Amino acid sequence: MNGDYRVKDNYMNVIDNIFSLSGKTAIVTGAAGQLGGEYVRALLGAGANVAALDIRPDNSKGNLKEIDSERLQLITVDITRRASIESALEKVLTHLGTPSVLINNAAIDAPPNASEQETGPFETYPESSWDVMMNVNLKGVFLCCQVIGGHMARTGGGSIINISSIYGMVSPDQRIYEYKDKPFFKPVTYSVTKSGILNLSRYLATYWAKNNVRVNTLTLGGVFNNQDNVFLKNYTDKVPLGRMAKQNEYNGAILYLASGASSYMTGANIIIDGGYSCW
Ligand SMILES: NC(=O)c1ccc[n+]([C@@H]2O[C@H](COP(=O)([O-])OP(=O)(O)OC[C@H]3O[C@@H](n4cnc5c(N)ncnc54)[C@H](O)[C@@H]3O)[C@@H](O)[C@H]2O)c1
Repeated sequence: MNGDYRVKDNYMNVIDNIFSLSGKTAIVTGAAGQLGGEYVRALLGAGANVAALDIRPDNSKGNLKEIDSERLQLITVDITRRASIESALEKVLTHLGTPSVLINNAAIDAPPNASEQETGPFETYPESSWDVMMNVNLKGVFLCCQVIGGHMARTGGGSIINISSIYGMVSPDQRIYEYKDKPFFKPVTYSVTKSGILNLSRYLATYWAKNNVRVNTLTLGGVFNNQDNVFLKNYTDKVPLGRMAKQNEYNGAILYLASGASSYMTGANIIIDGGYSCW
């Protein structure tokens, strides 16, 4: 019996040690959103100091206001502006310490109530919408990597987690939107930006390997967020596990990629999609 307990205790120590982020400082962009709020809680739970960056830190989706922790700092930042990211980094350095984890999670997508043009046919998709989404979803990640990743490369390294989507790996299946009253197409720009994330990660994984900065992509499937029933049926029919993700189901991968548990992983893409992309 004693032997069993010893084995269990040692095992728990291993888990604590390899996933621990105690004393580390992590930065999450888009932290006030649905998934960002989850990542903030998971990182705090693993012992990290967490800088929660968002253009709208009062966005209620992530419920950040409910968190009472001295290890958390909310910072307003626009990731499309280098000066804004630089200023956020200064605040992180002053209040939380040198960051060694960066989660590039902020992004925009066409919301269900987007304009008809934005969700209309490819041929008439507005250039201006292309520019706006490119600016946030790709240039914003590029700038955060330059400013915050660059700082990590100069100060001992760390782990960068770039968030992509199954729609960056495979095309959206436009047939699942055909039930809508008006023609609806999942816009091209979201897919293109999320594809770009994959090779930005690989590029930087090789570029910064000598500086001990690991760079990986985490590719996600759709998350349940009270979507309408027809959409839910159409989407989940395409998912081998038969459902959308719960919003906390990516936290394990976040802690794995952020911590020493993934110390030999860089330039990789972890896909968590309930099996969506396997058939
Ligand atoms: N929710 C899903 O089903 C799903 C599926 C696959 C991938 N993803 C990816 O996960 C990530 C988070 O998604 P989510 O559903 O939590 O989104 P969300 O819209 O709930 O949160 C995104 C956050 O980013 C912030 N943001 C937008 N522009 C910004 C800017 N210029 N500067 C700083 N912050 C800005 C927003 O204010 C918002 O709080 C995104 O990269 C998304 O592409 C989500």
